Amino acid sequence: MSLDQNLDKILIIDFGSQFTQLIARRIRELGVFSEIVSHKKIKPKDINYSIKGIVLSGGPLNVYQINKYSFDKKILQLNIPVLGICFGHQILSKLNGGRVKQSKHREFGLANVFKKNKSLLTKNFFGNKKSNKVWMSHADQVSKLPNNFKVVASSINSKFAIVENKIKKYYGVQFHPEVTHTQNGKKLISNFIFLICKIKRNWSPKDQKNQLIKEVRKQVGNNKVICALSGGVDSSVVAQLLNKAIGKKLYCIFVNTGLLRKNEEVQVVQTFKKRLKINLIYVNAKNEFLNSLKNISDPEKKRKIIGNLFIKIFERYAKKIKNVKFLAQGTLYPDLIESKSVTGSQTSKIKSHHNVGGLPKKMNLKLVEPLKFLFKDEVRKLGLELNLSKEIISRHPFPGPGLAIRMPGIITTKKIKILKEADYYFIQALKDHGLYHKIWQAYAALLPVKTVGVMGDNRTYEYLCLLRAITSEDGMTADYYEFKKSFMQSISNKIVNSIRGINRVVYDVTSKPPSTIELE
Ligand code: XMP
Repeated sequence: MSLDQNLDKILIIDFGSQFTQLIARRIRELGVFSEIVSHKKIKPKDINYSIKGIVLSGGPLNVYQINKYSFDKKILQLNIPVLGICFGHQILSKLNGGRVKQSKHREFGLANVFKKNKSLLTKNFFGNKKSNKVWMSHADQVSKLPNNFKVVASSINSKFAIVENKIKKYYGVQFHPEVTHTQNGKKLISNFIFLICKIKRNWSPKDQKNQLIKEVRKQVGNNKVICALSGGVDSSVVAQLLNKAIGKKLYCIFVNTGLLRKNEEVQVVQTFKKRLKINLIYVNAKNEFLNSLKNISDPEKKRKIIGNLFIKIFERYAKKIKNVKFLAQGTLYPDLIESKSVTGSQTSKIKSHHNVGGLPKKMNLKLVEPLKFLFKDEVRKLGLELNLSKEIISRHPFPGPGLAIRMPGIITTKKIKILKEADYYFIQALKDHGLYHKIWQAYAALLPVKTVGVMGDNRTYEYLCLLRAITSEDGMTADYYEFKKSFMQSISNKIVNSIRGINRVVYDVTSKPPSTIELE
């Protein structure tokens, strides 16, 4: 188990709740570093001096099944304040001699909790009222409190909705303070971390920048580092961070796969080589990619071929540069969690994302992943702190396999040319109408379907262009963006009238789930 030892933190022990990441986000929003670990992986010896408080997350388990999950209760006996949330509250009570039973009335959704006793945890939580709205989601509840615990608040169905053991600094809440539906939920978390754990703020973008530069320098020493620069937000921030930390020992490699957005390669070279003076190697591998993808239409095969070719090109350039020891990657916290390395949770594989795993094993390079504890919005703030332009920082995400996965079926130069134009017009229209920043991600795709149309007096038989624009928090779930009819009409006209090869435009109105954001 490797925890960041350098920063004071609140440790979140994950029992599988869908809200665990939200707890981490809330704590970080309050200016304090927090890290998530799986209850299966954490051992008492991992708890070091940097951990100033522990949060036990919610989870789908029943506390009486906990033996199956081998959670070591000694972790809770190290004189560190503990806040249990929902399941965490139940397990905290159970492990201290209390009892938990199935509730007569399962509570899902909003409930009122009524103040019973004063507590540091609930300072200003109730305001000047006697009750507060909270968000519940539980089937079990604490039915008998352990010794030395007292009730702080109750709901109609949960007598022990907020409890505390002041001496041991154990706190438990039956509801979810991390979700926005709980009124003043953030206040309760803030009381726990600042008043009870007494941790100091250490998580501003400037703190992060200085800390990360220090860590990168320490990790790589005098060695050379290569970094795959895509021009997207994450790799741009990694590149600029390493540029500040180690200057010319960083070698950024930008691969033109031929599957990039229109003019992307020109803009990346302009920004990174000319403006930011980053050591940038431009590789034109268009033909290599297109030849390898010839006649391939299976989405997973496309992804694998592209991923493997990236590795090959990297290896080639790493050899040319000589004595490269490290590879820098823009892995983010959610990537790490999704790839199971942190929480050990059992998320099923939906698509093979090639930016986590894959590369290093084959290349024999050590990884530098300075963003691996950050969420996307934190990366954006860090980027601004590193003097990256707002334009780069607020770009929509673009997948590594690029246009290949926005073109179901086989890939041809003709299709790429058509798609680049359609995407360009769509994105430009979003910018012109002030919509680009209201949308989390947008793109055009070319479907392998031809339909009949009429232009002038002529019958046409051309491709179908699909537009997708979504709103999202983090790409894990998404909703389609609702455009005005006038916008849809104007972009559809623009695309059909300006691009030879498309005679029909459709808009994707599915959310994620059940769809994904990309088509393949
Ligand atoms: P999906 O399609 O899985 O996409 O809903 C979620 C987000 O991930 C991006 N994406 C990728 N990013 N390499 C990347 O760097 C990939 O292989 C990849 N596949 C999807 C996608 O654009 C969306 O933002």
